[in-house]
Amino acid sequence: MDEVTASAPGKIILFGEHFVVYGEPAIVLAIDKRAYASVEMRRDSKIYIDNLADLGISGYFKKNRFIIEQGGQDSEFKLLPIKTAVQKILEKSGKNVGVNVKMHCSIPVSAGLGSSAAVVAATAKATSRLLDVELSKEDIFNITFESERLVHGTPSGIDPTITTYGGVLLFRKGKRFKRIDVKKDIPLVVGNTEIKHSTGELVSMVKHRREKYAAIIDPIIKAGGKITLNAVNALRDYDLNALGELMNINHALLYAIGVSNASLEKLVCAARDAGAYGAKLTGAGGGGCIVALSSPKEASQIVEAIEKAGGKAFAVKKSDEGARVEG
Ligand code: MEV
Repeated sequence: MDEVTASAPGKIILFGEHFVVYGEPAIVLAIDKRAYASVEMRRDSKIYIDNLADLGISGYFKKNRFIIEQGGQDSEFKLLPIKTAVQKILEKSGKNVGVNVKMHCSIPVSAGLGSSAAVVAATAKATSRLLDVELSKEDIFNITFESERLVHGTPSGIDPTITTYGGVLLFRKGKRFKRIDVKKDIPLVVGNTEIKHSTGELVSMVKHRREKYAAIIDPIIKAGGKITLNAVNALRDYDLNALGELMNINHALLYAIGVSNASLEKLVCAARDAGAYGAKLTGAGGGGCIVALSSPKEASQIVEAIEKAGGKAFAVKKSDEGARVEG
């Protein structure tokens, strides 16, 4: 077989990031920005990864050796989840071959929009088709989750879940997710601070804060879960006013646990002042993105306000499709 291309979507957490790590529910939606992986077979047994998520990181894995072609000292660490996913599928196939993986990503990277999980899910999907290995959605999820664990110690599994299955999901760690049926589009604007962050470091910072101030942080985490449950009803009723209010409260709780910063606050305020129903940081925080709920009419106004406040803004739509083979 020649080259196979597959893709997987990025995501926006509308409610419940961080609190989800402690078992509270979260709402996440797949967006119309995707990671693409094109794979082809090699005659030798090397795994070659080219241009990870447009970051200019490329290299070869040959048995347990890594040869950097392009990128810094941390290139091997960054490529490890993709290599692990490919290796698992190669083992299942029983074929004594290697694979070239070419990446392209329209999801901003290290920005809280799920690019890391999406590149792995897209690679797993494409590689399984290339090598004729039958994988269910659950298998793709498991491979992506296991690979994510290598770079981010205690993930909830929300990112691998949404990139595998797509749609709008009510997610709880370790439980079967529920699909939320949202009939109309939800007008969302993303504002990117363009400050890169490490999800693993932020999750561990929250863990330490919780250990130090358990009696204070635990009720905040619980309140986060209640916000999510209220938001499920608001989404089903398409009550944008209530959704916006709940996003604002959710953001205040994220601020309290220490994951916001001045750049995020600036964009959140700019979006609200420009008429958003609500705005909050999305994903791990510490940089990365905010998400604002707008009316379709006000979206361009909000985009403009975020850009004036120093962010990079774009409107996003929900995407019902998870990881898929292209063409
Ligand atoms: C990252 O997209 C969301 C976090 O809640 C971490 C996780 O759930 O694994 C910050």
